[in-house]
Amino acid sequence: PLQLQAATSTSLQKLLSQPSSFRNAHVLSVKQYSRADLHLLFTVAQELRLGVQREGVLNILSGRVLCNLFYEPSTRTSASFDAAMQRLGGRTINIDTSQSSVKKGESLQDTLRTLACYGDAVVLRHPDENSVNVAEKYCPVPVVNGGNGSKEHPTQAFLDLFTIREELGTVQGLTITFLGDLLYGRPVHSLVYLLQHYQVQVQLVAPKGLELPAQVREQLVASGQLLCESETLTPEILARSDVLYCTRVQRERFDSDEKYQQVKNSYRVDNATLKSAKSSTVVLHPLPRNEEVAEEVDFDQRAAYFRQMRYGLYCRMALLALVMASS
Ligand code: CP
Repeated sequence: PLQLQAATSTSLQKLLSQPSSFRNAHVLSVKQYSRADLHLLFTVAQELRLGVQREGVLNILSGRVLCNLFYEPSTRTSASFDAAMQRLGGRTINIDTSQSSVKKGESLQDTLRTLACYGDAVVLRHPDENSVNVAEKYCPVPVVNGGNGSKEHPTQAFLDLFTIREELGTVQGLTITFLGDLLYGRPVHSLVYLLQHYQVQVQLVAPKGLELPAQVREQLVASGQLLCESETLTPEILARSDVLYCTRVQRERFDSDEKYQQVKNSYRVDNATLKSAKSSTVVLHPLPRNEEVAEEVDFDQRAAYFRQMRYGLYCRMALLALVMASS
Protein backbone atom coordinates (compact mmCIF):
# COMPACT_ATOMS: atom_id res chain seq x y z
CA PRO A 1 0.00 0.00 0.00
CA LEU A 2 0.99 3.60 -0.64
CA GLN A 3 3.02 4.90 2.31
CA LEU A 4 2.84 8.64 2.65
CA GLN A 5 4.13 10.88 5.41
CA ALA A 6 1.50 12.69 7.42
CA ALA A 7 2.93 15.93 6.03
CA THR A 8 2.48 14.73 2.45
CA SER A 9 -0.45 16.60 1.00
CA THR A 10 -3.75 14.86 0.54
CA SER A 11 -3.85 16.20 -3.03
CA LEU A 12 -0.61 14.33 -3.75
CA GLN A 13 -2.01 11.16 -2.19
CA LYS A 14 -5.06 11.49 -4.43
CA LEU A 15 -2.96 12.10 -7.55
CA LEU A 16 -0.78 9.06 -6.90
CA SER A 17 -3.68 6.81 -6.02
CA GLN A 18 -5.71 7.40 -9.17
CA PRO A 19 -5.37 5.00 -12.13
CA SER A 20 -3.10 6.46 -14.82
CA SER A 21 -1.13 5.57 -17.96
CA PHE A 22 1.99 5.52 -15.80
CA ARG A 23 0.93 3.01 -13.15
CA ASN A 24 3.17 -0.07 -13.24
CA ALA A 25 3.85 0.48 -16.96
CA HIS A 26 6.95 0.78 -19.15
CA VAL A 27 7.93 4.33 -20.17
CA LEU A 28 9.45 3.75 -23.59
CA SER A 29 8.26 6.56 -25.85
CA VAL A 30 6.58 9.93 -25.38
CA LYS A 31 4.04 8.77 -27.94
CA GLN A 32 2.38 6.76 -25.14
CA TYR A 33 1.14 9.91 -23.42
CA SER A 34 -1.76 12.32 -23.78
CA ARG A 35 -1.96 15.94 -22.73
CA ALA A 36 -3.87 14.82 -19.62
CA ASP A 37 -1.03 12.43 -18.73
CA LEU A 38 1.47 15.28 -19.01
CA HIS A 39 -0.73 17.47 -16.86
CA LEU A 40 -0.82 14.76 -14.18
CA LEU A 41 2.96 14.31 -14.32
CA PHE A 42 3.62 18.05 -13.99
CA THR A 43 1.10 18.48 -11.19
CA VAL A 44 2.78 15.69 -9.24
CA ALA A 45 6.20 17.21 -10.01
CA GLN A 46 5.08 20.56 -8.59
CA GLU A 47 3.80 18.87 -5.42
CA LEU A 48 7.03 16.94 -5.03
CA ARG A 49 9.07 20.08 -5.53
CA LEU A 50 7.30 21.58 -2.52
CA GLY A 51 7.72 18.34 -0.61
CA VAL A 52 11.48 18.24 -1.23
CA GLN A 53 11.87 21.91 -0.31
CA ARG A 54 9.96 21.25 2.91
CA GLU A 55 11.26 17.85 3.95
CA GLY A 56 14.27 16.93 1.78
CA VAL A 57 13.38 13.24 1.65
CA LEU A 58 9.84 11.82 1.43
CA ASN A 59 8.81 8.24 2.06
CA ILE A 60 6.54 7.71 -0.91
CA LEU A 61 8.60 4.80 -2.28
CA SER A 62 10.14 3.42 0.90
CA GLY A 63 10.63 -0.31 0.52
CA ARG A 64 11.01 -0.01 -3.26
CA VAL A 65 14.21 -0.50 -5.28
CA LEU A 66 15.19 1.09 -8.60
CA CYS A 67 17.90 -0.35 -10.86
CA ASN A 68 19.91 2.01 -13.07
CA LEU A 69 21.29 0.23 -16.14
CA PHE A 70 23.35 2.47 -18.41
CA TYR A 71 25.19 1.13 -21.47
CA GLU A 72 26.16 4.68 -22.48
CA PRO A 73 27.78 7.46 -20.44
CA SER A 74 25.49 9.68 -18.38
CA THR A 75 25.76 12.19 -15.59
CA ARG A 76 22.33 13.88 -15.37
CA THR A 77 19.96 11.04 -16.22
CA SER A 78 21.70 8.45 -14.06
CA ALA A 79 22.36 10.77 -11.10
CA SER A 80 18.93 12.40 -11.17
CA PHE A 81 17.09 9.07 -11.23
CA ASP A 82 19.31 7.89 -8.38
CA ALA A 83 18.61 11.10 -6.45
CA ALA A 84 14.91 11.03 -7.35
CA MET A 85 14.50 7.50 -5.97
CA GLN A 86 16.40 8.34 -2.80
CA ARG A 87 14.39 11.53 -2.24
CA LEU A 88 11.23 9.43 -2.55
CA GLY A 89 12.57 7.22 0.24
CA GLY A 90 13.49 4.31 -2.03
CA ARG A 91 16.80 2.59 -2.72
CA THR A 92 18.88 2.18 -5.85
CA ILE A 93 21.16 -0.33 -7.53
CA ASN A 94 23.50 1.28 -10.05
CA ILE A 95 25.03 -1.14 -12.55
CA ASP A 96 28.41 -0.23 -14.03
CA THR A 97 28.20 -2.07 -17.35
CA SER A 98 31.99 -1.90 -17.75
CA GLN A 99 32.30 -4.09 -14.63
CA SER A 100 29.17 -6.23 -14.96
CA SER A 101 28.44 -9.52 -16.72
CA VAL A 102 27.64 -7.47 -19.82
CA LYS A 103 31.43 -7.70 -20.26
CA LYS A 104 31.10 -11.51 -20.35
CA GLY A 105 28.61 -11.27 -23.19
CA GLU A 106 25.33 -11.40 -21.29
CA SER A 107 22.47 -10.27 -23.50
CA LEU A 108 20.28 -7.26 -22.77
CA GLN A 109 17.24 -9.46 -22.25
CA ASP A 110 19.03 -11.65 -19.68
CA THR A 111 20.43 -8.59 -17.92
CA LEU A 112 16.94 -7.08 -17.67
CA ARG A 113 15.48 -10.37 -16.42
CA THR A 114 18.23 -10.46 -13.79
CA LEU A 115 17.61 -6.94 -12.53
CA ALA A 116 13.87 -7.59 -12.42
CA CYS A 117 14.65 -10.20 -9.73
CA TYR A 118 16.23 -7.51 -7.54
CA GLY A 119 14.43 -4.25 -8.29
CA ASP A 120 10.90 -2.97 -8.83
CA ALA A 121 11.75 -0.90 -11.95
CA VAL A 122 14.71 -0.35 -14.27
CA VAL A 123 16.02 2.81 -15.93
CA LEU A 124 17.72 1.76 -19.16
CA ARG A 125 20.00 3.74 -21.47
CA HIS A 126 21.24 1.81 -24.50
CA PRO A 127 22.84 2.70 -27.85
CA ASP A 128 20.42 0.46 -29.78
CA GLU A 129 17.07 2.00 -30.81
CA ASN A 130 15.48 -1.45 -30.50
CA SER A 131 16.50 -1.84 -26.85
CA VAL A 132 13.04 -0.57 -25.87
CA ASN A 133 11.44 -3.45 -27.79
CA VAL A 134 13.65 -5.96 -25.97
CA ALA A 135 12.68 -4.31 -22.68
CA GLU A 136 8.99 -4.46 -23.51
CA LYS A 137 9.19 -8.12 -24.48
CA TYR A 138 11.39 -9.50 -21.73
CA CYS A 139 11.39 -7.28 -18.66
CA PRO A 140 8.67 -8.17 -16.13
CA VAL A 141 9.04 -4.90 -14.19
CA PRO A 142 8.56 -1.37 -15.63
CA VAL A 143 11.44 -0.06 -17.73
CA VAL A 144 11.99 3.68 -18.09
CA ASN A 145 13.77 4.61 -21.30
CA GLY A 146 16.77 6.77 -20.42
CA GLY A 147 17.72 7.14 -24.10
CA ASN A 148 17.62 4.56 -26.90
CA GLY A 149 20.27 5.35 -29.51
CA SER A 150 19.46 8.58 -31.31
CA LYS A 151 15.73 7.78 -31.32
CA GLU A 152 14.15 9.10 -28.10
CA HIS A 153 14.86 10.42 -24.62
CA PRO A 154 11.36 10.63 -23.13
CA THR A 155 12.22 11.76 -19.60
CA GLN A 156 14.42 14.56 -20.94
CA ALA A 157 11.48 15.82 -23.00
CA PHE A 158 9.17 15.64 -19.96
CA LEU A 159 11.56 17.79 -17.96
CA ASP A 160 12.08 20.16 -20.90
CA LEU A 161 8.35 20.82 -21.10
CA PHE A 162 8.13 21.17 -17.32
CA THR A 163 10.97 23.70 -17.48
CA ILE A 164 9.20 25.73 -20.18
CA ARG A 165 6.02 25.77 -18.09
CA GLU A 166 7.85 26.80 -14.94
CA GLU A 167 9.94 29.46 -16.67
CA LEU A 168 7.33 30.96 -19.01
CA GLY A 169 4.04 29.97 -17.37
CA THR A 170 2.67 28.08 -20.37
CA VAL A 171 3.70 26.21 -23.49
CA GLN A 172 0.73 27.46 -25.50
CA GLY A 173 1.44 30.10 -28.11
CA LEU A 174 5.22 29.91 -27.89
CA THR A 175 7.78 29.89 -30.69
CA ILE A 176 10.42 27.28 -30.03
CA THR A 177 13.71 27.15 -31.92
CA PHE A 178 15.76 23.97 -32.04
CA LEU A 179 19.43 24.61 -32.79
CA GLY A 180 22.25 22.21 -33.66
CA ASP A 181 22.35 18.47 -34.21
CA LEU A 182 18.69 17.74 -34.83
CA LEU A 183 19.45 14.43 -36.55
CA TYR A 184 21.05 12.60 -33.63
CA GLY A 185 19.78 14.72 -30.72
CA ARG A 186 17.24 12.35 -29.20
CA PRO A 187 15.76 14.84 -26.70
CA VAL A 188 14.70 17.00 -29.67
CA HIS A 189 12.82 14.07 -31.25
CA SER A 190 10.90 13.33 -28.06
CA LEU A 191 10.15 17.00 -27.43
CA VAL A 192 8.86 17.54 -30.99
CA TYR A 193 6.45 14.63 -30.48
CA LEU A 194 5.26 16.06 -27.14
CA LEU A 195 4.74 19.50 -28.66
CA GLN A 196 1.99 17.97 -30.78
CA HIS A 197 -0.21 18.41 -27.70
CA TYR A 198 0.22 22.21 -27.76
CA GLN A 199 -0.30 25.16 -30.07
CA VAL A 200 3.27 26.19 -30.82
CA GLN A 201 5.41 27.27 -33.74
CA VAL A 202 8.74 25.57 -34.32
CA GLN A 203 11.88 26.87 -36.04
CA LEU A 204 14.59 24.40 -37.03
CA VAL A 205 18.22 25.50 -37.35
CA ALA A 206 20.67 22.76 -38.26
CA PRO A 207 23.82 22.36 -40.33
CA LYS A 208 23.49 20.53 -43.63
CA GLY A 209 23.33 16.79 -42.99
CA LEU A 210 22.15 17.13 -39.37
CA GLU A 211 18.53 18.11 -40.05
CA LEU A 212 15.61 16.60 -38.16
CA PRO A 213 14.82 13.01 -39.29
CA ALA A 214 12.07 12.93 -41.94
CA GLN A 215 9.51 11.09 -39.79
CA VAL A 216 9.93 13.55 -36.90
CA ARG A 217 9.81 16.58 -39.25
CA GLU A 218 6.62 15.15 -40.77
CA GLN A 219 4.89 15.59 -37.38
CA LEU A 220 5.61 19.30 -37.50
CA VAL A 221 4.45 19.64 -41.09
CA ALA A 222 1.25 17.65 -40.52
CA SER A 223 0.32 19.73 -37.48
CA GLY A 224 1.13 23.05 -39.19
CA GLN A 225 3.72 23.85 -36.51
CA LEU A 226 6.79 24.19 -38.74
CA LEU A 227 7.45 27.93 -39.09
CA CYS A 228 10.86 27.89 -40.77
CA GLU A 229 14.04 25.91 -41.43
CA SER A 230 17.50 27.40 -41.76
CA GLU A 231 21.18 26.54 -41.71
CA THR A 232 21.88 29.83 -39.95
CA LEU A 233 20.66 31.23 -36.63
CA THR A 234 19.66 34.65 -37.98
CA PRO A 235 18.74 37.64 -35.76
CA GLU A 236 15.18 37.36 -37.15
CA ILE A 237 14.83 33.73 -36.06
CA LEU A 238 16.24 34.58 -32.65
CA ALA A 239 13.98 37.61 -32.23
CA ARG A 240 10.91 35.38 -32.72
CA SER A 241 12.11 32.71 -30.26
CA ASP A 242 10.51 32.29 -26.84
CA VAL A 243 12.63 29.21 -26.30
CA LEU A 244 16.07 28.61 -27.80
CA TYR A 245 16.78 24.89 -27.40
CA CYS A 246 20.50 24.29 -28.06
CA THR A 247 22.02 20.87 -28.65
CA ARG A 248 25.50 19.38 -28.75
CA VAL A 249 26.75 17.79 -31.96
CA GLN A 250 26.61 14.10 -30.99
CA ARG A 251 30.14 13.00 -31.83
CA GLU A 252 29.47 9.43 -30.68
CA ARG A 253 26.85 8.90 -33.41
CA PHE A 254 29.11 9.80 -36.37
CA ASP A 255 30.60 7.04 -38.50
CA SER A 256 33.76 9.08 -39.13
CA ASP A 257 35.56 11.71 -37.06
CA GLU A 258 36.22 13.66 -40.25
CA LYS A 259 32.49 14.27 -40.72
CA TYR A 260 32.18 15.32 -37.08
CA GLN A 261 35.05 17.80 -37.40
CA GLN A 262 33.28 19.43 -40.38
CA VAL A 263 30.15 20.31 -38.36
CA LYS A 264 31.26 20.40 -34.72
CA ASN A 265 31.60 24.21 -34.58
CA SER A 266 28.55 25.07 -36.67
CA TYR A 267 27.04 27.31 -33.97
CA ARG A 268 28.14 29.19 -30.91
CA VAL A 269 25.61 31.09 -28.82
CA ASP A 270 27.32 33.87 -26.86
CA ASN A 271 26.35 37.19 -25.29
CA ALA A 272 26.58 38.94 -28.66
CA THR A 273 24.21 36.38 -30.22
CA LEU A 274 21.64 36.90 -27.46
CA LYS A 275 21.46 40.64 -28.15
CA SER A 276 18.89 39.76 -30.85
CA ALA A 277 16.77 37.68 -28.43
CA LYS A 278 13.85 38.88 -26.32
CA SER A 279 14.46 39.68 -22.67
CA SER A 280 12.00 36.84 -21.86
CA THR A 281 13.61 34.18 -24.08
CA VAL A 282 14.77 31.08 -22.23
CA VAL A 283 17.87 29.24 -23.38
CA LEU A 284 17.62 25.50 -22.80
CA HIS A 285 20.14 22.72 -23.38
CA PRO A 286 19.81 19.06 -22.34
CA LEU A 287 23.56 19.13 -21.56
CA PRO A 288 26.37 18.17 -21.60
CA ARG A 289 27.57 21.06 -23.76
CA ASN A 290 30.74 21.51 -25.75
CA GLU A 291 31.36 24.82 -27.51
CA GLU A 292 27.81 25.56 -28.72
CA VAL A 293 26.90 27.75 -25.73
CA ALA A 294 29.65 30.06 -24.43
CA GLU A 295 30.24 29.98 -20.67
CA GLU A 296 29.66 33.76 -20.52
CA VAL A 297 25.97 33.02 -21.27
CA ASP A 298 25.70 31.18 -17.93
CA PHE A 299 25.51 34.56 -16.19
CA ASP A 300 22.58 35.74 -18.30
CA GLN A 301 19.24 35.17 -16.48
CA ARG A 302 17.85 33.81 -19.76
CA ALA A 303 20.17 30.81 -19.50
CA ALA A 304 17.84 28.24 -17.93
CA TYR A 305 19.88 25.09 -18.54
CA PHE A 306 21.12 24.72 -14.97
CA ARG A 307 17.63 25.29 -13.57
CA GLN A 308 16.43 22.75 -16.20
CA MET A 309 18.55 20.07 -14.47
CA ARG A 310 16.91 20.77 -11.12
CA TYR A 311 13.43 20.62 -12.70
CA GLY A 312 14.54 17.23 -14.01
CA LEU A 313 14.83 15.92 -10.46
CA TYR A 314 11.20 16.78 -9.69
CA CYS A 315 9.96 15.40 -13.01
CA ARG A 316 11.79 12.12 -12.55
CA MET A 317 10.54 11.88 -8.95
CA ALA A 318 7.00 12.38 -10.28
CA LEU A 319 7.49 9.74 -12.93
CA LEU A 320 8.87 7.17 -10.49
CA ALA A 321 6.12 7.92 -7.99
CA LEU A 322 3.43 7.50 -10.64
CA VAL A 323 4.96 4.32 -12.07
CA MET A 324 5.85 2.61 -8.79
CA ALA A 325 3.30 3.79 -6.23
CA SER A 326 0.55 1.23 -5.75
CA SER A 327 -2.92 2.23 -4.65
N1 CP B 1 20.74 15.26 -20.80
C1 CP B 1 21.27 14.07 -20.53
O1 CP B 1 20.71 13.03 -20.90
O2 CP B 1 22.45 14.12 -19.87
P1 CP B 1 23.33 12.85 -19.50
O3 CP B 1 23.82 12.26 -20.80
O4 CP B 1 24.44 13.39 -18.64
O5 CP B 1 22.45 11.88 -18.77
